[in-house]
Amino acid sequence: VTSLTILGGTGRQGHGLAQRLAHAGLRVTVGSRDPERARATVAAWARSGPPITVADHASAVDGADVTILAVPFSSVDQLLLEIQPQFKDGALVIDITVPLTFAGGKIAMLDVAEGSAAEHIRARLPSAVRLAAAFKTVPAQLLGATADPLACDEFVCGDSDEARSEAAALVRLLPGLRPIDVGPLSRARSIEHLTALAIAINRRHNVHEARFRVVGL
Ligand SMILES: NC(=O)c1ccc[n+]([C@@H]2O[C@H](COP(=O)([O-])OP(=O)(O)OC[C@H]3O[C@@H](n4cnc5c(N)ncnc54)[C@H](OP(=O)(O)O)[C@@H]3O)[C@@H](O)[C@H]2O)c1
Repeated sequence: VTSLTILGGTGRQGHGLAQRLAHAGLRVTVGSRDPERARATVAAWARSGPPITVADHASAVDGADVTILAVPFSSVDQLLLEIQPQFKDGALVIDITVPLTFAGGKIAMLDVAEGSAAEHIRARLPSAVRLAAAFKTVPAQLLGATADPLACDEFVCGDSDEARSEAAALVRLLPGLRPIDVGPLSRARSIEHLTALAIAINRRHNVHEARFRVVGL
């Protein structure tokens, strides 16, 4: 993969990913609801780094080999409806969404009928598009501190061996991040719960970069 699109790439999780993947040598396009505003946002943080293109969601997905979904889970249905026709056959989507709510300052998992955000998304993608989940547990604050090593593991699941291994290869592009293949998409539920756990650890211990490392592997 040499080019990659990040929908929601202006956001907390997306902007660190966009910059780090651009540094790794990929041609990165950020998809946004408001490309003009996003262009200003991207210009502010990408001044010293490699160039990053900005486009509306549909143009950003059009022809992309890999599209990372980095928007809030609550906006995924509407977004997928809009961009469905743009995916090329065989494209890979990487879901990083976590179905969390923060109502009243309390973290709660949304009850997703399909079992996880990733399976919910699978059900709304064209069958010729492949799906993997990754970048769900690496903390946004650390991703955004682009000079800092990530020094953790990242869980990858997917709907095929190829989808998982391509997603794992992307994870490996970020220094200090080790992909852990955890198998089929149904494992996304466990990964998404781990994100909730990381946030709970951050809050309880007043830190921002709690993350996971698997030992014995
Ligand atoms: N923050 C974390 O630590 C973290 C960690 C792991 C996973 N995640 C997951 O990553 C995804 C993004 O999280 P985030 O914290 O980066 O979110 P965010 O900053 O609130 O939003 C990301 C981007 O999505 C777009 N967006 C916001 N609201 C939208 C809407 N209603 N409809 C369509 N697009 C919208 C915005 O881009 P434009 O305005 O440019 O369109 C925004 O910059 C979420 O699904 C989250 O669960 C986050």
